[in-house]
Order: sequence, then C-alpha cells, then structure tokens
Amino acid sequence: MKSIIIIGYMGAGKTTVGKALAKDLGVMFYDLDWYIESRMRKTVKQIFDEVGEEGFRKIEHNMLHEVAEFENVVVSCGGGTPCFFDNMDYMNQLGETFYLKASPETLHAHLKMGKGVRPLLLNKTPEEVDKFIHEQLKLREPYYEKAKHIIDINVMDNYDKINAIVQQI
Ligand code: S3P
Repeated sequence: MKSIIIIGYMGAGKTTVGKALAKDLGVMFYDLDWYIESRMRKTVKQIFDEVGEEGFRKIEHNMLHEVAEFENVVVSCGGGTPCFFDNMDYMNQLGETFYLKASPETLHAHLKMGKGVRPLLLNKTPEEVDKFIHEQLKLREPYYEKAKHIIDINVMDNYDKINAIVQQI
C-alpha cells in the first residue's frame, strides 16, 4: 500500500477522517499540522505570529518532505498545503490523494463547531469568515481538484458520515 493523503479546506474533517481511516487500516496516522507543532515545539499560531504565513509555508513544505519518508501511512494535510510550491504534484507522486470536497456553508458550519485555532480566520466577524471562505475556496479549488480522488462530503447522510467517508476511501 502506498500512503494515503487527505486534502481539503479547513473544516472539511481531514484530521477526523484520517485518524479513523488509519485505525481502520491498522496503519500510522500523521496530521501535518501536529507534526509541524511537535517538530518545531511551537503551535501553528505561534509560527504564524513569528514568521508570518510565508514562513509557515516554507516550514510546511519542508515538513511535508519529512513525512513523505514514512511509507504506508495516512497523512492529513493543512488546508493550504496543496496550494504552495509544488506540494500538490508531489503528493500525487507519493500516493493516493483524496480531496474532501464540501460547500462553503458546510465548511463554515464545521468550523463554528470546532475548537481549533485557525490563524487565517482570527479576528474576523462571522460575515467576514463567510466571505473569506467563499473567496479562498474559489482560489484553492483548482489545486484541490488535482487530487486523484474527489469525495463530495455534502451528498452524504449526516448519520455516521465519518464511517461512510472512511469506507469510500
Ligand atoms: C491553513 C489550515 C490549517 C493550518 C493553518 C493554515 C490554511 O490546517 O495548516 O492554520 O491555510 O487553510 P487545517 O486545514 O487542518 O485547519
């Protein structure tokens, strides 16, 4: 088995799905943000505060290459990972890439429920977040859609959605 790489916008459920999938397959799971945080001994927010988004993207790119050394694993990426450097093409070479595709409305609803800190969404009103998601998703979709597999998570029933996605992958 080659590695499985999960991509998609913030709030798509990449980490939740990745973790459940790895458990199901009995393989190791790596969340790229968590990997960055443990390697740098800093939170993603601290990294953004110290070196800005540009600095974070360089670190993220380097860490993606480190995680790529592991074989037969499940990796979930950050929402921006596929959109910088040659990351998307690189991930397609590494294994099977899956894009968890969701509407801006679904993403916003998930993000409201979640507790994670997203530096790109901080200090924005709900209306601003809504506009930001719509605009950024349009810019990012061309990268996301290069994934080898696209899973539309909007069409799935809410009942046991995670398991349904895991089974489909
Ligand atoms: C980002 C998404 C985050 C994290 C960072 C930047 C993005 O990961 O990498 O805050 O640019 O979309 P999640 O998609 O896991 O929230």
